[in-house]
Amino acid sequence: MDWKGRDVISVRDFSKEDIEFLLKVAERLEKELEEKGSLDYAGGKILATLFFEPSTRTRMSFESAMHRLGGSVIGFSSAATTSVRKGESLADTVRTVEQYSDVIVIRHPMEGAARLAAEMVEVPIINAGDGSNQHPTQTLLDLYTIKRAFGRIDGLKIGLLGDLKYGRTVHSLAEALAFYDVGLYLISPRLLRMPRHIIEELHERGVEIHETTDLEGTIPELDLLYVTRIQRERFPDEEEYLKVKGSYQVNRRTLEKATEKLKIMHPLPRVDEIHPEVDRSGHALYFRQVFSGVPVRMALLGLTLRVL
Ligand code: NCD
Repeated sequence: MDWKGRDVISVRDFSKEDIEFLLKVAERLEKELEEKGSLDYAGGKILATLFFEPSTRTRMSFESAMHRLGGSVIGFSSAATTSVRKGESLADTVRTVEQYSDVIVIRHPMEGAARLAAEMVEVPIINAGDGSNQHPTQTLLDLYTIKRAFGRIDGLKIGLLGDLKYGRTVHSLAEALAFYDVGLYLISPRLLRMPRHIIEELHERGVEIHETTDLEGTIPELDLLYVTRIQRERFPDEEEYLKVKGSYQVNRRTLEKATEKLKIMHPLPRVDEIHPEVDRSGHALYFRQVFSGVPVRMALLGLTLRVL
């Protein structure tokens, strides 16, 4: 069980024990931060954030986490102002940034980009999303949020709603939930079903799966509903997107049959899939989820940098 110096590319690279250990460290850091305001574990260390795709929460919570650990941050939030515009390769970009930093967080539209980057450099690479493939750090903060809200993950009935085809957050989350004893409800339009290879893997790992298009019929069963945005930018064809646009929404009416304790999560940003009227209900957990990004990413940075 060792995060020290490791790359964080896919949830598949980690064991349940690794994950549980990281969540414990995050909890400890959250408490320490509450007591002391800011910490100094990463003094003198530099994080580089390379974002080739838009981001608000992932990039800023990594930056906030590094600052709260006492370290500093360099990077870019758009490749448009970097030498990538002049035709520089990803390999050369990361080899360059490695000379300036101790850990690199990368988000890129190409599946496998973070893995490729990790093969090029010695410093730890953390995948902040590679195309439709994986988003492991979002999953860690999702698990942390679930644990804090329910006190456990085992025994929960969890619905994943929306774009299960292109949504990298739900790909990583489903694979991580397979470590636990959960019932998984995959709720999506037919065009946006979870990829077969992930369903097969979940079956092989003994997860109880229900695939459905029926949101309202499924809601009464659930302890947790994880909502996702339709990933418009991933559709090869705008026509295909228009077929599913606006095909589901969680609002006061959809929640009429929910149990009182149902919690709703969303990695954000949302477009129209959760009506703002839900924000004021006791179901909404998505802003608490945003908060979890900081302690979890502090743990990730502190451990991979070997300063914790
Ligand atoms: C997600 C992402 O980038 O995959 N956002 C995030 O990191 N919180 C979800 C999305 O963009 O829909």
